[in-house]
Amino acid sequence: MHEPPDPWKLARDDASTIRHRLGEPSVALVMGSGWTGVVADLGDPSGSMPMHDLSGVPEPTVAGHGGTASMVEVSGNRVLVLAGRSHLYEGHDAHTVTHAVRAAVLSGAGAVVLTNAAGSLRAATPVGTPVVITDQLNLTGASPLVGPAPPPELGARFADMTTLYDARLREVALAADPGAATGVYAGLLGGAFETPAEIRMLDTLGADLVGMSTVLEAIAARHLGARVFGLSLVTNLAAGLQASLDHSEVLAAGEASAQRLGGILQAVIAAV
Ligand code: HPA
Repeated sequence: MHEPPDPWKLARDDASTIRHRLGEPSVALVMGSGWTGVVADLGDPSGSMPMHDLSGVPEPTVAGHGGTASMVEVSGNRVLVLAGRSHLYEGHDAHTVTHAVRAAVLSGAGAVVLTNAAGSLRAATPVGTPVVITDQLNLTGASPLVGPAPPPELGARFADMTTLYDARLREVALAADPGAATGVYAGLLGGAFETPAEIRMLDTLGADLVGMSTVLEAIAARHLGARVFGLSLVTNLAAGLQASLDHSEVLAAGEASAQRLGGILQAVIAAV
């Protein structure tokens, strides 16, 4: 019978690969859709490798379009930049979509910075606004802590999520960009954008932002003891608050705001 690979062993093995190929990071930075312009501004990498060279990262679905992991020194910190994440809506499970973050933390990253593109439920937080994530709603129906119990030396089975997003790193970000907003991010399975009725439901539940990533990575990183910082870029108003939704606007909003986002990331990385 074919046994599924042990996600904890895979993550430890790939942590050694990261250390061996790129060196030991102090921070991991996951770049979301539309955020690629921000990476170039951070600095020249000392090394890089295809994400797919990590054995727990799935094959890219389009040849040549897999992600890249690179090491960049920013404000004296060694930052492992993970450009290209995998999502539940691609058919991957919760262990797979959190694998690169887990390997990064086990390779030495004590802090994880998660970025994403998100829809805004607040008309007062329009397209192009950076939003510092204060808390999250994991509405994916999945968890990276489902399955075989994690080895106790890595973290508890029922990880405490009371302080999921690090309060001090949030303060640093808001000091660096006082015009940035704050909000609760609702992470959904995705596949399609939401209906207006779903957005009204999310509003009732306390969400300010909606997206299809980040929540599982945040849980996985915090479980392993890393500090977590999350930054959304509003790329559209949520369904029902604007006429229609289109993925191309998600990518365009990122390019327009790259410099501002880069400033926040540099301040946070300098403070970890
Ligand atoms: N909904 C879900 N995910 C998203 C959105 C949205 O409106 N915008 C960018 N990612």
